[in-house]
Amino acid sequence: MPHYRTVGEVPRKRHVQFRRPDGGLYAEELMGEEGFSSDASLLYHRHAPTAITKAESVAANHHALEPNLPLSPRHFRTQDLAPDGDLVSGRRLLAGNGDVRIGYAATDRPSELYRDSMGDECVYIKSGRARFESMYGALEVGEGDYVVIPTGTIHRWVPSGPVEALTIEASGHIRPPKRYLSQFGQFLEHAPYSERDLRAPAEPLVVEGEDVPVLVRTRGGLTRLTYRNHPFDVVGWDGCLYPYVFNISDFEPVVKRTHAPPPVHQTFEGPGFVICSFCPRPLDFHPDAVPIPYNHHNVDSDEFMFYVGGDYSARAGSGIDVGSVSLHPAGFTHGPQPGAVEAVIASGATHTSELAVMIDTFRPLDLGPGALACEDGDYAWTWAR
Ligand SMILES: [Fe+2]
Repeated sequence: MPHYRTVGEVPRKRHVQFRRPDGGLYAEELMGEEGFSSDASLLYHRHAPTAITKAESVAANHHALEPNLPLSPRHFRTQDLAPDGDLVSGRRLLAGNGDVRIGYAATDRPSELYRDSMGDECVYIKSGRARFESMYGALEVGEGDYVVIPTGTIHRWVPSGPVEALTIEASGHIRPPKRYLSQFGQFLEHAPYSERDLRAPAEPLVVEGEDVPVLVRTRGGLTRLTYRNHPFDVVGWDGCLYPYVFNISDFEPVVKRTHAPPPVHQTFEGPGFVICSFCPRPLDFHPDAVPIPYNHHNVDSDEFMFYVGGDYSARAGSGIDVGSVSLHPAGFTHGPQPGAVEAVIASGATHTSELAVMIDTFRPLDLGPGALACEDGDYAWTWAR
């Protein structure tokens, strides 16, 4: 996030003495990307953020992936997956590759403190409400929110009832597309959202506590570190690196007279993938427009689409419903189901109510056990009916 923010108490200059009311020094911590060469924030802790008293290995489960063989389009019904664990431990792995892992979680239980040290995470809240608590402060989140969490941010999730979420774990940083930004990082006029659409922590949490476990994910696996003092003991911070929220309803769709391709829906990008938001909008308005997608073969990407609301005219007859995931891999041509084009033209529809989150990856997606547990095995043959 290239936008400077200051929250709570910080000293007038960086790296100078900053004292607690009792005369002791606050502990300054830099959270910085790309080895001191990119966005960073400085956080001021009441206690040393380095003091750990225990390190334990934690067994990872549900993380096996298998190739999409025999190659075929897939339909997974997350609506059939039972609630499990919490928003960290309960993630059902749907698909992944070396760049990104995509999971689904349904739960009403709070998570333990968690730090993903492999990359940024983007958690899309499909339904329900939760409080996101972090070293930077708290955020109230709800339906339609993308919560973007920088690498290394210690945080936890506290649902206020049942919550369903799509979890996107990157191997690097998740950012707004470069083409939406000026050379200094301001959103440009043609971008489908702007700084005013983003929410970030407004005040520090300042939690005290001792012997606090934090689950840490690294390339090697999971570790539970016990911190002598609570990591949320931050009295203030400033900088350009912090968690933030963008709600899908604030995405301003781009429409054309004839069909516009998915890049107009792009919302974020990460290493080896993009995230797109398909939102309610006017349909293509050329008098002879074919107002739903043409058949397409993305030779360089796999398309993972999570259907979160609305009506899917282009998918009539496919079995796709709210909660469904379709995976259309490279090597397979996909498009509207038979009769869908004629039906939409005949209906005279002028708007679409579809709401979907798409992740296009530039390397093939392997399939996770969560997906295989809720697969609709007939989907691949629906275009031939
Ligand atoms: Fe597609």
